[in-house]
Amino acid sequence: MNLRSSNWFGRTGKDGFIYRAWMKNQGIPAHEFHGKPVIGICNTWSELTPCNAHFRELAESVKHGIYEAGGFPVEFPVMSLGETLIKPTAMLYRNLVSMDVEESIRANPMDGVVLLCGCDKTTPALLMGACSVDLPTIVVSGGAMLTGKFRGHDIGTSDLWRFAEDQRSGKISQGDFEDAEACMARSRGHCAVMGTASTMASMTEALGLSLVDNAAIPAADSRRKVLAHLSGMRIVDMVKENLKLSAILTRAAFENAIITNAAIGGSTNFIIHLLAIAGRIGVPLTMDDFDTHLKKIPLIANLQPSGKYFMEDLYYAGGIPALMKELDAFLQGNAIAVSGKPISDQYKNSVCYNRDVIGTIDHPFNQVAGISVLKGNLCEDGAVIKPSAASPDLLQHAGKAIVFENVEDYKARIDDPELGVDESSVLVLKNVGPKGYPGMPEVGNMSIPKKLLKKGVTDMVRISDGRMSGTGFGTVILHVSPEASIGGTLAIVQDGDLITLDVLNKTLHVNLSEEEIAERKKHLKSVAAVVSRGYTWLYQQHVEQASQGADLDFLKGGSGSEVVKDSH
Ligand code: FES
Repeated sequence: MNLRSSNWFGRTGKDGFIYRAWMKNQGIPAHEFHGKPVIGICNTWSELTPCNAHFRELAESVKHGIYEAGGFPVEFPVMSLGETLIKPTAMLYRNLVSMDVEESIRANPMDGVVLLCGCDKTTPALLMGACSVDLPTIVVSGGAMLTGKFRGHDIGTSDLWRFAEDQRSGKISQGDFEDAEACMARSRGHCAVMGTASTMASMTEALGLSLVDNAAIPAADSRRKVLAHLSGMRIVDMVKENLKLSAILTRAAFENAIITNAAIGGSTNFIIHLLAIAGRIGVPLTMDDFDTHLKKIPLIANLQPSGKYFMEDLYYAGGIPALMKELDAFLQGNAIAVSGKPISDQYKNSVCYNRDVIGTIDHPFNQVAGISVLKGNLCEDGAVIKPSAASPDLLQHAGKAIVFENVEDYKARIDDPELGVDESSVLVLKNVGPKGYPGMPEVGNMSIPKKLLKKGVTDMVRISDGRMSGTGFGTVILHVSPEASIGGTLAIVQDGDLITLDVLNKTLHVNLSEEEIAERKKHLKSVAAVVSRGYTWLYQQHVEQASQGADLDFLKGGSGSEVVKDSH
């Protein structure tokens, strides 16, 4: 076997001495350096990323598997992105982490990589970086939390949004609100609903980048450790087979992921992350490829936020394999997975144990599924909406705009009793896109104004160039491209402009003439943040639009695994 790591550990003379000697200070015996595949375990463990706080334990299971298969594991840290604590938004740092991952892998003696992914951005960031190197790679996700239990009810992150509105409108007390905290997050793992973390784990499984059941085994279930152990064993064989990411991430794999995402009601963030991953591995993919309506994929998984159940329920019902089996007629089952076999082998013998959780194509949970890509004069390069999480009566709607120029403006005025808003209004939030904020935060599902909440209004049409948490819901139009800060039409919308949304015909318009739009654009003044230094400056200078995956333009593609210069 011609191992990449032999260029370090297989050397003689001074260089070989240096490469091995310092590693031996960790108590590693000499035979580990004699031609064993070296497997990097890319760990996003951090106590500041609670969703990934159990990853040191998970890494131990991976190591056991690697040793058992005859490999040599080396665990290394990369920056960890926790959604809940990182300010201004974890999305700002997704591309930074991808650089950390890419350079860490390429610069070090690794023959294969295990990516430990969990909280939302950790999955795309690690995959993007790994794609730009293209070694044999397998993903082990951390798993979702156990379903939250609160006063006799099952709860998850999506309930947070409901509780928050109830607390604002006085329906529940601050004490009740705080009691729900520990009840919701009662075990290790990431958000228990089909939010972005679960969407990314499901995407990984549908792409063929993980072993079976990676997406749905709960974090607290001992079978999660078994999966990690088996993944450690498998990556050693993948190195021997030279089964690289580029052999798995074909156009067919991406199409499988898109179809699966529609059927699970996955997060709108899926579009941005999948576009970015495709850009790194060199598979052409555009927003138009996400339109699954022509294929008529219904919503099969009855999971929050589009449905009722939680990731734990999905696992007990048969998991992603049982769901993919229902989609078999739409999938390209011959796409190769990390097993080295067609992905159809991973699901064809699976069984569904609960039809209330995983429906069928003929008896779906909802005919409306997937993510709709909207086009129109308000979003020339596209915008997205998740119809299954929206109110059916608002999917075709015309209303007058209530405009917020940025997040600060929105926060200052949303609950102002003088705000001229009613339930037919369309809330518009500008300058929360990739460049404008910068970082594209999850603020698109703006709160309903307090005075309307008190009237019992629970949903309104909301439009922005930002994102929404995968756990969020509502008639929320996101990722408007081009964004306001670079002169997109969103920038010239004013209070009172009539906006027409037609999700069925996939259009989003502001009812202004081309001449009026052009005239207003002449007088545009940007109120976007101005950044003068550091990573955020680099990001603002180079980030692409959401419709292209919001990667940094100079990170597209890859540089492979070869180290061009060797100073030793
Ligand atoms: Fe980490 Fe939801 S906060 S997955």
